[in-house]
Amino acid sequence: MSGSDFLQLRAEQAPAKGLTGWLAGGLRTAIAAGRLAPGARLPATRLLAAELGVSRGVVVQAYQRLVDEGLADARTGSGTVVTRTASIAPRPAADRRRTLHELRLPLSTPDGIDLNLSPGVPDLAAFPRAAWLRAERAVLDRVTAADLGYGDPGGTPRLRAEVVAWLARTRAIRADADDVLVCGGVAQGQALLAQVLKGRGEAAMAAEDPGSRGTRDQLRHWGVRTEPVPIDEHGLLVGPLRATGLDTVLLTPAHQFPTGVVLAPDRRRELLAWAREGNRLILEDDYDAEHRYDRAPVAALQGSAPERVAYLGSISKSLAPGMRLGWLIAPRGMQAELLAAKHASDLGTSALPQLVLAELLTNGDYERHLRTVRARQRARRDALLAGLRAHLPRARVRGVAAGLHLLAELPSGDDVAIAERVRAEGVLVHPLSWHRLRPGPPGLVLGYAAHSPDRLTEAAARIGRVLSPR
Ligand SMILES: Cc1ncc(COP(=O)(O)O)c(C=O)c1O
Repeated sequence: MSGSDFLQLRAEQAPAKGLTGWLAGGLRTAIAAGRLAPGARLPATRLLAAELGVSRGVVVQAYQRLVDEGLADARTGSGTVVTRTASIAPRPAADRRRTLHELRLPLSTPDGIDLNLSPGVPDLAAFPRAAWLRAERAVLDRVTAADLGYGDPGGTPRLRAEVVAWLARTRAIRADADDVLVCGGVAQGQALLAQVLKGRGEAAMAAEDPGSRGTRDQLRHWGVRTEPVPIDEHGLLVGPLRATGLDTVLLTPAHQFPTGVVLAPDRRRELLAWAREGNRLILEDDYDAEHRYDRAPVAALQGSAPERVAYLGSISKSLAPGMRLGWLIAPRGMQAELLAAKHASDLGTSALPQLVLAELLTNGDYERHLRTVRARQRARRDALLAGLRAHLPRARVRGVAAGLHLLAELPSGDDVAIAERVRAEGVLVHPLSWHRLRPGPPGLVLGYAAHSPDRLTEAAARIGRVLSPR
């Protein structure tokens, strides 16, 4: 006699006589414990009998007992299905919604919200499904069995080569395919950097203030504290950065999050000079640089100082954040440690999506998609700006025509309370103070990429009603 994976049944544990009773008992216990939920299909009798090394009649009779007891239903053609749960004390349910809320992680759109203007989310309805499917078919036609094994933890060679070519062309990156570490979005790249820096004894880095709260929280999780450095309309202030005495800085130079300003040429030079003075490191978060609407984005800092910059990017803002696919191009002196950290985390990023993205980059569909959404987002940004001008005439919009969000600075008020009241009108926005480390003027961060111009006009009107009720 032998055993089955199904409920880990081992026929040798059954009494010599009474196999049927033993099997029915095992099934009953599994139903009572919730291991077999209502709707679960029991294995075909012939199959289970063969796995257990018992006669088929034993399994047929055991199933019949459950049917007789009302625990299962035998339907011709569809096998035997569990119909109800025999009650035993349930395990206390883990409240996932509460856990996610306590961690301040975004859930799906909360109840009562019909206009979610959370920043940083592209138009998910625009995901290029047909192009992705075509690329996936092409990849599956060609992919070898070996391509689906444990590969290089740094990423598939084909994607690394395509990413480097794409970034050299669009972002002036200077790197070889071997310098690219494919990872689960900018977030995983930052997590790996945090682990390596922590391992080197660096427990703090400088970061823009205001800056992405999500990023700060994540770094804190890995034991790295962020020290605030103020920004102005030209980006990060290098004097205060120097004054922190820290050797690492994290910033978003192409389109500062959340203010939308661009790091000005003089500041870039100053920052690069700071980095070159010592063994210093710039973490360049290039999270949304593909979306510049009035001109080409400024080149990435990495191209000016590959040995002082760790460059991070992803497809979260160009395709979908749910893909969890991005890249990290770090100075060569860090790459071995980063690769080891990546290997220790997950042995490498899922191979098939990497190959599909490589195909989209090769066949031009990625770029075509970007062109399409860029034009659409520009119109959406314009609509939101016009709406804000009409309904919030005293708000000041900062930043350049780029990205998926804009910042409306308010003349006065508590932006957290304002965001709460706006939320009661069905509109979800981020108060600027969420992203601040030190107090400053109030504002609302408004993501516009996922809504039509009409809906954005409506959102501006509702925000306007909250700020100046008639
Ligand atoms: C400034 C900034 N950096 C990083 C991220 C995370 O990006 P990813 O999805 O690539 O991990 C976000 C996401 O919204 C962001 O706004």
